Amino acid sequence: MPKNILITGGAGFIGSHVVRLFVTKYPEYTIINLDALTYAGNLENLRDIENAPNYRFEKVNILDATALQEVFEKHQVTDVIHLAAESHVDRSILSPLDFVYTNIIGTVNLLNLAKDKWKGNYANHRFHHVSTDEVFGTLGDTGFFTETTPYSPNSPYSASKAGSDHFVRAYGETYGLGYVMTNCSNNYGPNHFPEKLIPLFINNIIHNKPLPVYGKGDNTRDWLYVIDHATAIDTVFHNGKNHEGYNVGGFNEWKNIDLVKLLCKIMDEKLGRTAGSSEKLISYVTDRPGHDLRYAIDANKINKELGWKPSVTFEEGLGKTIDWYLTNEEWLKNVTSGAYQQYYENQYDGR
Ligand code: NAD
Ligand code: TYD
Repeated sequence: MPKNILITGGAGFIGSHVVRLFVTKYPEYTIINLDALTYAGNLENLRDIENAPNYRFEKVNILDATALQEVFEKHQVTDVIHLAAESHVDRSILSPLDFVYTNIIGTVNLLNLAKDKWKGNYANHRFHHVSTDEVFGTLGDTGFFTETTPYSPNSPYSASKAGSDHFVRAYGETYGLGYVMTNCSNNYGPNHFPEKLIPLFINNIIHNKPLPVYGKGDNTRDWLYVIDHATAIDTVFHNGKNHEGYNVGGFNEWKNIDLVKLLCKIMDEKLGRTAGSSEKLISYVTDRPGHDLRYAIDANKINKELGWKPSVTFEEGLGKTIDWYLTNEEWLKNVTSGAYQQYYENQYDGR
């Protein structure tokens, strides 16, 4: 049966890398990128593949069940890889309901269509739900999140993603819908919207603006290069066991302040600035409410069962990422004009 794969959120950061990988690696599949093009969606991310014969784009909001149904019927969708989401914790603190709508109700809209359209033939169709390790809550100084760690989300973002994960499992158990799920650690890489730590700080260093480190900078995140996340999604989509979840991460934990200092050091070198000059931009600001202390993924299951592992070290990935931002200043300029300024002022002025 030919595959017509609907990738939601394909114009976003991770989605654009997943779309590119599938369009180029699988010319026999038709890839339909469905995206509402919110502030985080940008078709510039896909300029290099937009004319590929197996690529289609549909500007649709996953809250619009009627439009979604039309897309399912028009393209005879056989599989879904679901990435569309509101994805930023700080925005979820400002506006939780947006996260409930897109992340929970939007996901249920997609699940309803998959359930109805694929009925009687669930074995030949797959719903791949892309989620986050943040659903597990926070770790102390030791330990890892495994696939059996109980859910304990602390932010409106992670609560909404946890809700969407539960609905995916519920549709699998209740209706027999075929699904797989991936819960990945923090991503970084090209095309990352500069509201998240790494691209925000790269942009601020370029423009000699303060680097707002929340609290004492003691919080720890586990970082994975975005292209390695895309290959993990490819692996699990094709080879993951039905009705199972896989944790995705690179065993690459960094305390925020150590990461920021490393970033400053590499940026000084790449920009030809005096050693230590970017570090002077570090400014400790009021902490994020409910700030999870530490995330760390145990990625043994996907590694041992499916043979996936990251392809780059953190130093390589960070170097590639910084180079991408320095050669794509136009992209950065475009996404940081207009509404971004308003967001930035709300988020950081007087903090
Ligand atoms: P992003 O914010 O960069 O992109 C989200 C995309 O979804 C955008 O293109 C946006 O236009 C689209 N979108 C948002 N609301 C929509 C709606 N109502 N209808 C249709 N499209 C809509 O996010 P990202 O960082 O690329 O994350 C993608 C997915 O991966 C999300 O589900 C996120 O929870 C998950 N995830 C992200 C990370 C990370 O570190 N960024 C880690 C693990 C999992
Ligand atoms: P972020 O990139 O928002 O990802 P997440 O909250 O989903 O992990 O933040 C990564 C870490 O960096 C997190 O501990 C919060 C911190 N942080 C700052 O210290 N300052 C900032 O301006 C931002 C955006 C994040």
